[in-house]
Amino acid sequence: MNLKFPENFFWGCATSAHQVEGNNKNNDWWRAEQIGEVPYKSEEACDSYNRYQEDFDLAKKMHNNAHRFSIEWSRIEPREGNFNQNEIEHYRKVIHALKERGMEPFVTLHHFTNPIWFADIGGWANKKAPFYFARYAEYVVKNLGEEVKYWITINEPNVYVGMLALGYGPWTHWPDQSRKNFFRFMRLAKNMTKAHKKAYKKIKKLQPNSFVGLNHGNVFVGRANNNLVTYFVWFLVNWFKNKLFLNKVARYLDFVGFSYYTRVIITPSFSNPETWVRWEHKDDRPVADGGWEIYPQGIYFVTKQAMRYKKPIFIFENGIADADDDQRSMFIKNHLRWLHKAISEGADVRGYFYWSLLDNFEWAEGFKQKFGLVEVNFNTFERKARPSSIFYAQICKDNELKI
Ligand code: BGC
Repeated sequence: MNLKFPENFFWGCATSAHQVEGNNKNNDWWRAEQIGEVPYKSEEACDSYNRYQEDFDLAKKMHNNAHRFSIEWSRIEPREGNFNQNEIEHYRKVIHALKERGMEPFVTLHHFTNPIWFADIGGWANKKAPFYFARYAEYVVKNLGEEVKYWITINEPNVYVGMLALGYGPWTHWPDQSRKNFFRFMRLAKNMTKAHKKAYKKIKKLQPNSFVGLNHGNVFVGRANNNLVTYFVWFLVNWFKNKLFLNKVARYLDFVGFSYYTRVIITPSFSNPETWVRWEHKDDRPVADGGWEIYPQGIYFVTKQAMRYKKPIFIFENGIADADDDQRSMFIKNHLRWLHKAISEGADVRGYFYWSLLDNFEWAEGFKQKFGLVEVNFNTFERKARPSSIFYAQICKDNELKI
């Protein structure tokens, strides 16, 4: 059977600046890496700042017709109010390189990193954070707006804020995690939603025909059993994880974008409160290298849930850490099968981006987790396409999945 995807569907891969570019010395992650606040150093990362042409050749070989990457705020505005036109020209070249290869650029303006000056005034806790972010967004769009139609203001604000203010799940050891509490969570969340709205308005004013949205980090929230406590906790977690931000910014979105990797399971147990929200699955279910459960049905449920916003939907990240590359093709196949089911039931999905094109700097986990369709040797920077990239290429080429 062949599962056809909608006409003009976007197929691509996603990356982010700090994870692939290398030498982003002016941001808070770099600083945290240098002082040991986070356990690994990004250093040259994939050296994509210099090797982007080679990267895009690989994406083109995969028949991608779109590519998602991020602009590094700390390069554009290394000091408060001081904008660097050379870096704008760099990103212009990056965008041209994509277009020359027939790929639509999807540009993220914030993917987890902040300029050091911004971090030093309190980062996202500062009341003026929305103003600073929107000013940066406006500058970028004034300069590059003619070249780009799809803008993603902020990557996974819900994940980011949760990481900073609560430090939950698999990702502890992030910069600026010293004060974890719920009030901080609400404050950061409020500033990030405000920042999105402000940036949205500015971008649309400059470029009314653009499509502006954000990328939300969704998970499927499952229940281990059905008692009242479980249901209550499930409701809260689902609301916090999958709805809080989107509900707040829904009027300021031309599309809804989300990442989907795995599910969490709610298992309230009064003897062991730590396991109420279970991320890692050590039992008989298939898992990725880092321990995340592989749960393809989840992409169907979260896509269906996203339909409530009545906007076009993009899957901006879906991928697996799989160094041996023995699960990746199956992972993509099964997720696309479930995504197709959601589409056949009316979900207006416009694109799918695999995370990631390359093995890269996986934040507090360093270079250990291998998400890439392309393997990177971090000593020589040599790129080597994995067999799964051939599998993905066929899907992108045919705009259909053969099952
Ligand atoms: C983030 C990426 C990260 C990926 C895999 C996503 O939530 O946006 O930056 O590499 O997860 O962990």
